[in-house]
Amino acid sequence: MCGIIAYSGHRPVVPILLDGLKRLEYRGYDSAGVAYAHKGSLAVVKQAGKMHQLEEMLEGRQNGATSGIGHTRWATHGLPNRNNAHPHTDNGKGLALVHNGIIENHQTLKTWLEDRGHRFTSETDTEVLSHLISQGCLQKKEKFEALAWALDQVEGSYAIAVIFQDEPGVIWAARQSSPLLMGLGEGEMFLSSDIPAFLSATRDVVYLDDGELVRMEPGGWQVFDSGSRNPKAKEVSRIDWDIRAAEKGGYPHFMLKEIFEQPGVIQDCLKGRIDQDKAQVLLPEVEGLPVPERLRIVACGTSYHAGLWAKHLFEHWSDIDVEVDIASEFRYRKLRFRPNDMTLAITQSGETADTLAGLRMARESQVPVLGLCNVVGSSVARESDRVLYTQAGPEISVASTKAMCSQMTSLLLLALYWGRRRGTTDESLERTVVTHLRALPGVLEASLPGMQRTAQDLVQRYRESRHFFYLGRGLNASLALEGALKLKEISYIHAEGYAAGEMKHGPIALIDPAFPTFVVAPADDLAPKTLSNIKEVLARKGEVILLSSPSLKFFGTYRWDIPELVWPLSSFAVLPALQLFAYEMAVELGTDVDQPRNLAKSVTVE
Ligand code: M6R
Repeated sequence: MCGIIAYSGHRPVVPILLDGLKRLEYRGYDSAGVAYAHKGSLAVVKQAGKMHQLEEMLEGRQNGATSGIGHTRWATHGLPNRNNAHPHTDNGKGLALVHNGIIENHQTLKTWLEDRGHRFTSETDTEVLSHLISQGCLQKKEKFEALAWALDQVEGSYAIAVIFQDEPGVIWAARQSSPLLMGLGEGEMFLSSDIPAFLSATRDVVYLDDGELVRMEPGGWQVFDSGSRNPKAKEVSRIDWDIRAAEKGGYPHFMLKEIFEQPGVIQDCLKGRIDQDKAQVLLPEVEGLPVPERLRIVACGTSYHAGLWAKHLFEHWSDIDVEVDIASEFRYRKLRFRPNDMTLAITQSGETADTLAGLRMARESQVPVLGLCNVVGSSVARESDRVLYTQAGPEISVASTKAMCSQMTSLLLLALYWGRRRGTTDESLERTVVTHLRALPGVLEASLPGMQRTAQDLVQRYRESRHFFYLGRGLNASLALEGALKLKEISYIHAEGYAAGEMKHGPIALIDPAFPTFVVAPADDLAPKTLSNIKEVLARKGEVILLSSPSLKFFGTYRWDIPELVWPLSSFAVLPALQLFAYEMAVELGTDVDQPRNLAKSVTVE
């Protein structure tokens, strides 16, 4: 979704804003713009399209300005055109503002402002904020009061950064349900929606919380509670990962880099979580937390698929009842929570609006919430009762890959750990799984290059296909859903994921020679059942790509063997195979792999 960068310091601001915006490109956007105070007025430069278009417009404008704001917009209200691009100003161009979020009562506010003479020039909800602050300045005079008063009028979500024409060097910002953090440099201050935007300059960050209002300038910063107007003390955190983690490192795309990072991701996820001598799981993060009798998993997209996958593990090993919900559905269900329930919110970004709403709903019902997040300090991490970090490092590609691998690893550890606590897994099972898990990174490392070659061959064979089915049973049904999601989101090919046994209840009508079926069936207890579904497809002249392991003796139209691994570890080999097929197809079709059309990395609006 939208990305915000702001800078106030001693260096020329335009290159800093452009660099920050480029590092936020992964969030998804369709227009971009910057504003800075220059020679007593505010310069606003914005454009629909990609960053290079904005860059061209800014060429030759490397002026003396040393503070300003920038924005990448992912359209919600109004077309992705220049008028609707941020920054937005008030009529007198006394201020410029960028915004991430949705102002829900913008229509009412707009009418109220128009009655007071404000003229609107865009179709956005955001523009009410700039007029409202300007109105506040007229009524309240002091900028701080004007901003706080304006925010009092607003319903919805926002992260904003504001500059005033008569106050060069000062940036104001506020946050409500949209991510925003400050970077503290030497005589320079940054503000952004995400860390990579300023990580090359500083590792010291302050995470802003809902309801906070900030004033920053090169020499200092102050955070206030917007409601009470009182100053607040904030903790400074140190980022321990390197900016190189957010760069391509020689790979043509972030997605490919992140797929190949998966062996390391598993290793990192296990760090500090395995007793090496006993081959037992240690999870200090959830120690002391009662093991739930019923777990309600809430997530979206790929994280939801990780939840569906883990359901089988919690049922098999921990004897826990599990319900998995898409967060946007969960938040509107009429749920009856029971005393020993727990909600598990799975999210890479920790900022997904629907997942956050589900978490809040559970907390309002006094149900403990465990967050499984990748982004440290994210909203879900901070609002959960306990948090388990997936430790996967920054995921930049919009298509999530290594995050799911890290979620699966963490969930597997949790299921084993809770199984031991409940006495439903025996020691030898835990030891066996942990031993195989420790060996898994090496197995994957060795197989990934071959998998990529197979994916390339397969793409040559099926490059004309415009529809795919993905089938699987049990654990593999969730991987089938994920394979289909990956293919459609980056190659724009229609793909449907189905539980294999459900095929004959309708979808089989679609099968013909031009509609290939990807069957995920590594050798496990359910594989023989899936074989009968394969036969049903073949009997109708459908082509079957069978993704399996050597001990399963069967052949579809095309056989793809992944390493033989014990249940449920085979999933960790299935996952990159599916990801690589989608990746190679997208490369073949020439789509924008890392920033697919219409998508945003972290979906911070409902
Ligand atoms: O950050 P989250 O894990 O909460 O994000 C959830 C989904 O938006 C995300 O997985 C999305 O479906 C990806 N585009 C999948 O590749």
